[in-house]
Amino acid sequence: MSIKTFLLPALLMAGALLTWPACNNDDDDPEAPACNLPGATLTYSTNIKNIIDTYCISCHGGLGPGPDDYRTYEGMKSHLDEGHVLENVVINKTMPEGGGMPQAARDSINCWIQAGYPK
Ligand code: HEC
Repeated sequence: MSIKTFLLPALLMAGALLTWPACNNDDDDPEAPACNLPGATLTYSTNIKNIIDTYCISCHGGLGPGPDDYRTYEGMKSHLDEGHVLENVVINKTMPEGGGMPQAARDSINCWIQAGYPK
């Protein structure tokens, strides 16, 4: 067969493969982006607590208006387990309410959660 009859279907296939993940963005269950800080080992105590203290506990510090108390690892744990922190901060970016959180801080949270949120 000629190179053209081979290339056209190959290009169509490649195009379908490339656009396929984009079509999935409308799913109810979108996935977090891959961690963009490969090799970094982020822990709650060294890297994450500061971020939570800065951007979350004004509302999630046990006094409202947000639910729950994120001043400790234990206070956040069930929401990490349920995937709500990843969903709200990394995927939908609905938290912190009102925005104002730099993307770099979201990236750190993403990598930390994907690594199993070590303490
Ligand atoms: C300005 C106040 C405010 C800030 C700051 C804020 N939140 Fe929230 N958050 C809320 C409120 C109010 C709700 C409950 C209503 C809702 O879900 O929208 C909520 C809900 C949530 C939920 C869902 C709770 C559940 O049980 O599913 C999560 C998870 C969450 N916030 C995480 C965070 C994280 C992590 C931060 C910091 C990066 C943050 N929020 C910062 C006000 C805030």
